[in-house]
Amino acid sequence: MDTLKGFKRSLYCGEPRIENVGEEVSVCGWVQRQRDLGQLIFIDLRDRTGIVQLAFDDGTDRAVFEKASSARSEYVLAAKGVVRERSSKNKDIPTGEIEIEVKELRLLAGAETPPFEIVENSDVNDMLRLKYRYLDLRRPDMQRAIALRHKVAKVTRDYFDENGFFEIETPMLTKSTPEGARDYLVPSRVHPGKFYALPQSPQQYKQLLMLSGFDRYFQIVRCFRDEDLRADRQPEFTQIDLEMSFVEVDDVIAMNEGFIKRVFKEAIGVEVETPFLRMPWSEAMERFGSDKPDLRFGIELKNISDLVGNCGFKVFTDPVAAGGSVRLISVPGGAESFPRKKIDGLVDFVKTYGAKGLAWMKLSDGGMTSSFAKFMTEEENAAIIERAEAKDGDLILIVADAKNETVFAALGALRCEIGKRLGLCKKDDYKFLWVTEFPMFEYSEEDGRYVAVHHPFTAPMDEDVDKLENDKANCRAKAYDIVLNGTEMGGGSIRISTPEMQQTMFRALGFTDEDAQERFGHLINAFKYGAPPHGGLAYGLDRMVMLMAGADSIRDVIAFPKVQNASEPMTACPDVVEQKQLDELAIAVNKAEE
Ligand code: AMO
Ligand code: AMP
Repeated sequence: MDTLKGFKRSLYCGEPRIENVGEEVSVCGWVQRQRDLGQLIFIDLRDRTGIVQLAFDDGTDRAVFEKASSARSEYVLAAKGVVRERSSKNKDIPTGEIEIEVKELRLLAGAETPPFEIVENSDVNDMLRLKYRYLDLRRPDMQRAIALRHKVAKVTRDYFDENGFFEIETPMLTKSTPEGARDYLVPSRVHPGKFYALPQSPQQYKQLLMLSGFDRYFQIVRCFRDEDLRADRQPEFTQIDLEMSFVEVDDVIAMNEGFIKRVFKEAIGVEVETPFLRMPWSEAMERFGSDKPDLRFGIELKNISDLVGNCGFKVFTDPVAAGGSVRLISVPGGAESFPRKKIDGLVDFVKTYGAKGLAWMKLSDGGMTSSFAKFMTEEENAAIIERAEAKDGDLILIVADAKNETVFAALGALRCEIGKRLGLCKKDDYKFLWVTEFPMFEYSEEDGRYVAVHHPFTAPMDEDVDKLENDKANCRAKAYDIVLNGTEMGGGSIRISTPEMQQTMFRALGFTDEDAQERFGHLINAFKYGAPPHGGLAYGLDRMVMLMAGADSIRDVIAFPKVQNASEPMTACPDVVEQKQLDELAIAVNKAEE
């Protein structure tokens, strides 16, 4: 092997153009492909910017030619030579008009045959990709995603700095507080039997920083949540977290619309129109069955409980009588796109969301067929069709349930599934939305009490302060989520900033004063020393970059992500540790994975 001694790279592989013909250049990179045609050798050399062709022919020094002949895929090379116009041009790559006539070649490292080819969008099995993530990351699409992530972080720092925010770090070893997800715990060696928790978010610290007078804070920060993984969830993920003093909802929203506009423009060249649409949570649920509606297409939900509450069909009347509802969506052209077989698939689909069934009506050839026609009068059918605003060729899909949440969950998901199947979800169509006026509480069957929808530091809406104690089901919060194309990209709120209100809130959540003091004493006490009114927001950076990159999973925009079962195939963590380490931590393992 050769060394790099005395060799200086002059440009990246993706850079030389026809204008550089005649210039001497030097490049470094990996062999994408070597073609040995006997008298002629071509090597495609790749680095993070692209590919350039190295050419070797009868004019090439024999020792250099021999070296080129021995180069294999993924070998690491350094080459110096002169740019010349190619005889057969390649229109598909930016350097396709030129090649480098190599004068000096250094073989810097050899390479075994990689377990998969390093090419764009290869359909290699995910586990294999992640086991060899360092090779997977060589692929141009991964290189672009990681570069985009860097760009977003850079613009974030620029924007918030320009707007007077300080980037302040907060601890990773913190106190466990019951905030939402399960904590990742870290045992203390110095305090046997005691644990730190990794932060689910810097929420309490950023509020304390407002109390300390920093006025505006932001941080690009890792958060940890031990929850079930999905395409847009990782156990460790990154937030763009921010907090502002002396602000109300509109101020936080305006600051963040400015940020989104800037970051979409600078990172991906997309012009975003502001202000964004705002929609109260209750309207989002009624119209889209979701608190993160995808606004790229219509197909809105309609409530038909009033039309079918007294019909002859128990599937509809029972849920209405039980306080639930019957709702529908109407799919334009659905009569043709969804034949019986496919409708059966949709029935199975809604069942995964807890629905007991899916009733349907098909309007075609001037007539109507339906899965429940025999139970209905002609007038009732006509009323449903009218409410659905359906026309010939459309398909109406109906879910009835005694629980409204189930109707919303099933139809909301079905709506998105159908939008996807009908090709209505264009990745480069960015539809932003603020969902506001979230409920403060939701009833947890598991805990048998009301729990906070956001976190217990969220302020109630001014009109709903009294409901904190006497009407929890209808108490709304000064909370907002920013939604893009059906994904919750970020969320935040105006916070409670007086000790009295904070205490009322903890009581409303069923904490005794002692409990609250034990768990949140630092915050409760701090608020006794003068907290400014404040509020903020946190974005999921991974989700933002995923949406910008048009990726399907946040895994594709994280350099070293975890898989479904929260393990990491490359390093094989989590893993067992030595008995000595456990002893030092005073930890006994009483159950272990095979
Ligand atoms: P929240 O819990 O809504 O708010 O989180 C903010 C944003 O972080 C992203 N996110 C995740 N991304 C990937 N994997 C996960 N497991 C995950 N969980 C959340 C989402 C989400 O919108 N402290 C508050 C913010 C505030 O009130 O200022 C908080 O953490 O995009
Ligand atoms: P059945 O009389 O049970 O065959 O149901 C008639 C139609 O109602 C079928 O198309 C079922 O899929 C549908 N159905 C059953 N339960 C529900 C429900 N909870 N909501 C909507 N449709 C349902």
